Parts: sequence; C-alpha cells; structure tokens
Amino acid sequence: MNNTTETPVTVIGLGRMGQALASTFLKAGHPTTVWNRTASKADQLVAEGALLAPTVSDALKSGSLTIVCVTDYQAMHRLLGADDIELDGMTLVNLTSGDSAQAREAAQWAEQRGARYLDGAIMAIPPAIGTAEATILHSGPQADFEAHKATLDALGTVTYLGADHGLASLYDVAGLAMMWSVLNAWLQGTALLRTAGVDAVTYAPFAQQIAAGVAEWLPRHAEQVDSSSFPAEVASLETHVRSMAHLIEESEAVGVNTELPKLIKAMADRAIAAGHGGEQYSVLIEEFSQPRND
Ligand SMILES: NC(=O)c1ccc[n+]([C@@H]2O[C@H](COP(=O)([O-])OP(=O)(O)OC[C@H]3O[C@@H](n4cnc5c(N)ncnc54)[C@H](OP(=O)(O)O)[C@@H]3O)[C@@H](O)[C@H]2O)c1
Repeated sequence: MNNTTETPVTVIGLGRMGQALASTFLKAGHPTTVWNRTASKADQLVAEGALLAPTVSDALKSGSLTIVCVTDYQAMHRLLGADDIELDGMTLVNLTSGDSAQAREAAQWAEQRGARYLDGAIMAIPPAIGTAEATILHSGPQADFEAHKATLDALGTVTYLGADHGLASLYDVAGLAMMWSVLNAWLQGTALLRTAGVDAVTYAPFAQQIAAGVAEWLPRHAEQVDSSSFPAEVASLETHVRSMAHLIEESEAVGVNTELPKLIKAMADRAIAAGHGGEQYSVLIEEFSQPRND
C-alpha cells in the first residue's frame, strides 16, 4: 500500500463526525471521495476539493480505503448490505459507534464478502479531528491496520489495540466509564463544598490533584487484579468503608445527594460480607466482574 498523502480515501457518512474526517483527509492532501444519504451535506467538502460520488457503490470504487461513519451499525448494514454493493477487495474502517458484539459480527459479515475490516472508535469531538487530542482506536487484523496507518494518522492519535475486532468498542466504553467516574466524583465534592461557600472553580485544582494522584495507583492495583492477590499494602477495604460512611453522613448532614456514595459503599459492603475486608481496594474487581441488575 502506498502510504503517501496521495492515497485515495473514501468517507461514507457526512454527519458532524464524517464531515470532520473527510475535511481532515482533504487538508492532509488525500484525494477524498465522499457519499452521504443527504447529498447537500457534502457541499462544503466539495468546495474544499472532495469528489461527491453519486452512489455508495461508486464511492467504494474510488478508494482502496473506505471510512464509514454513520449513526449506528444498522445504518451501516443497510448502506453496505444492498445487493449491488461490491465489497470484495475493499478495506473498510468502520468508525461508527457500537458495541463489541456488533463489531465482531460486522467483521465476519464484511470478511464473508471479501473485504478487509477494521473496527474503530473515535474518542473525540469533531473539532478535535486532525489534532493529537483526537484518540482513534482500531482493532482487527494488524497487517490491515499497518497497511493504512500512515493514512489514518492524519485523523489524530491513532491507536491499534489488537486482532479482536471488539476491542475498540470495549476500550471506548471503558474510557467513558473512567470519564464519568471522575466527573461524578468531582461533582459530588463540588456539591459538598458549595454548601460551605466554596465555588467550583476554587475546588477544581484540588480535585485535579486528587484525580492525578489516584491515577498513579492504577499500575500497582492492576498487578493485584491480574494476579488475583490483594494484600492491603496501603489500606484495607474496611478502612475505606469507614471513610465511605463518613462521606454519606457528611452528604446527608449538608443536604446533598447521597446516591453515588451509597452505591460505592454497597459494593464494598458486599465484598466485606464475602470476607474481603482485610484486603486492598482492588479486590472490588470481583464485584465489578459479575452481573448485578438490581
Ligand atoms: N459527534 C461526535 O462528537 C462523535 C464523537 C465520537 C463518535 N461519534 C460517532 O460517530 C458516528 C456519527 O456521528 P455524527 O456526530 O456524525 O452523527 P450525525 O451528525 O447525526 O450524522 C449521522 C450520519 O449517519 C447517516 N445515517 C444515519 N442513518 C442512516 C441510514 N439509515 N442510511 C444512511 N445514512 C444514515 C446520516 O445521514 P444523513 O445526513 O442523510 O442523515 C449522517 O451522515 C456515530 O456513531 C457517533 O456515535 C460522534
């Protein structure tokens, strides 16, 4: 594969994200063919130099690499599953958001039609595309990723996770879980401090410092998770739970929401009831690793 900026690229789906992707390829110098159900969304891209294909089939024929970015996998299957669509010999990079099962199923579906398939997940907003802040995750056959990495690099910080097509989706949601956990913890603390007249901006640098400090613990906790051995090197789960009770009491006393602290404590209480009170916090992986739907 010729990995210069002359490599032709096709982008199918020109919503907010697809337009950013196509525009970035154009700016990087790639001949870029585009297609969208609502053709008018290609107007600006055509003005920037994109070629608007009249049909999906024509769009696919224009480039050896096709990026698909539509609302969901159903839309992707509807578009590319039509009888007249020839996928044999194509490389598809599907940057549509979905879950890991959809990604694996789509990979099988595409490969049965003779296409090479990489699944991807975009961890960025459209304006960040083309900058280092845009993390774009890929999974699928490594050789296919390597063949197109130089082209995909135009989009941001492009990462390869492994051969299992489901990995990009799984990392995507794992990252979201991290993001919401940090934000929710910060909001809980902010709500508490505002009752004492401390505004969010004043508290934020302290919260940032705590979040960064806790992030430093992850590699050691991860070793414990991988070895299923949780000696309380720093603090036992019982010690944590006493502090959780304090957080709930303080939240109740000042009249802020207690749902999140209670949820956290309920999980830790169950682990203690199962005999893990003397172990390190990471023993909670056992709670997180089993379904619980109530
Ligand atoms: N925007 C973000 O910040 C962001 C960030 C990360 C990931 N993503 C992911 O990127 C993907 C696209 O998001 P977006 O923000 O670009 O969404 P969007 O602006 O709503 O655009 C949706 C795109 O999907 C097309 N589409 C939907 N159903 C279709 C169908 N049945 N047949 C053909 N085309 C269909 C739309 O075509 P029409 O124009 O004709 O309606 C449009 O091109 C999603 O999976 C989203 O989760 C977005």
